[in-house]
Amino acid sequence: MKKRIGILTGGGDAPGLNAVIRAVVLTATRCYDWDVLGIRNGFDGLYAGTPAIPLGAEDVSDLLAQGGTILGAANRGSPFAQRVRQPDGSEKVVDVSHEAISRIADRELHALIVAGGDGTMAIAHRLACLGAPIVGVPKTIDNDISETDVTFGFNTAIQTATEALDKLRTTAESHHRIMVLELMGRHAGWIALKAGVAGGADAILIPEIPFRIDVVSEKIRQLQAEGRRYSLVVVAEGAAPVGGDQMYYIEGRNGSEGRLGGMGHRVGNLLADRIEAEVRVTVLGHLQRGGRPSPRDRWLATRFGTAATHLVAKQRWGHMVALQGTGIVTIPLSRALCMKRVDPCGDMVRMARDLGTVFG
Ligand code: F6P
Repeated sequence: MKKRIGILTGGGDAPGLNAVIRAVVLTATRCYDWDVLGIRNGFDGLYAGTPAIPLGAEDVSDLLAQGGTILGAANRGSPFAQRVRQPDGSEKVVDVSHEAISRIADRELHALIVAGGDGTMAIAHRLACLGAPIVGVPKTIDNDISETDVTFGFNTAIQTATEALDKLRTTAESHHRIMVLELMGRHAGWIALKAGVAGGADAILIPEIPFRIDVVSEKIRQLQAEGRRYSLVVVAEGAAPVGGDQMYYIEGRNGSEGRLGGMGHRVGNLLADRIEAEVRVTVLGHLQRGGRPSPRDRWLATRFGTAATHLVAKQRWGHMVALQGTGIVTIPLSRALCMKRVDPCGDMVRMARDLGTVFG
């Protein structure tokens, strides 16, 4: 009987997920003659037994350039803390990890490839420790997964964010305004740093460097004194002032994290109080996650999907693929669980400071 593998996409989506699905299907069918089953809606769909999608080469032929994930994602569910409806209508959080693992066998899957961010990799690691035949593919626009130099989705996100800065620059210049752009990234400042430098921001506020608003306003005043009548300020959603807190616009529930947001407007208001110029704030939000993956993200996603399928052939359960330097490597999932953050004293921040960018 032909072997069958499953693939699911967990966490928030990221440009390139569909390219991973395509690469897995093509590699599995062409190199190993395996069938592939697409599990819908992440681990939620696995546990719930949501009807899966058989995927053949013809099903994935148009996927390379498509954003999102054709399998759907679920970025709150975990089989270790599943909300299960009780007979009286109330909800209870229960550990259904063993049932989730048995669903893999129920579907006659010889292995499961799991593409996701840090939360998904943590779940995959725990399931693998319980004996599940799982291999991971790291993804996130935030680029905050350790042990991989970069994740797919990140390049597309910084491209979108940089384009936004380029556009804000022209209108800022016309109106002599201070433009504040809030970007995603959760607790890591990678998107803000890379897009901020690529878009020539005058100030970049990131979670790794608590900011003093007076440093930012002083920089803007200095630019004004030199004759530059507009400024660009990038604020990572996870940035916070010295001695202050990050801002959440959605509070966390039942142990899940809330959603960061609001610091762009806070910074905008603080600057408006301090500087003789109009301030406008843009929150780029989910535009950073949507749309077609960049060629670089398609390339990385394709390499990851292919390599993950080869890992399945080698039965390297509990491992994920990663990019280190120019090569694809295999990393135990246990090593990928701590967050990769910007080094405040590292050469990237130093270079930006050398160019005159302030970090508050
Ligand atoms: O992790 C990716 C990400 O886009 C973060 O940058 C952001 O904080 C979060 O997801 C937003 O999550 P949601 O789509 O649930 O609002």
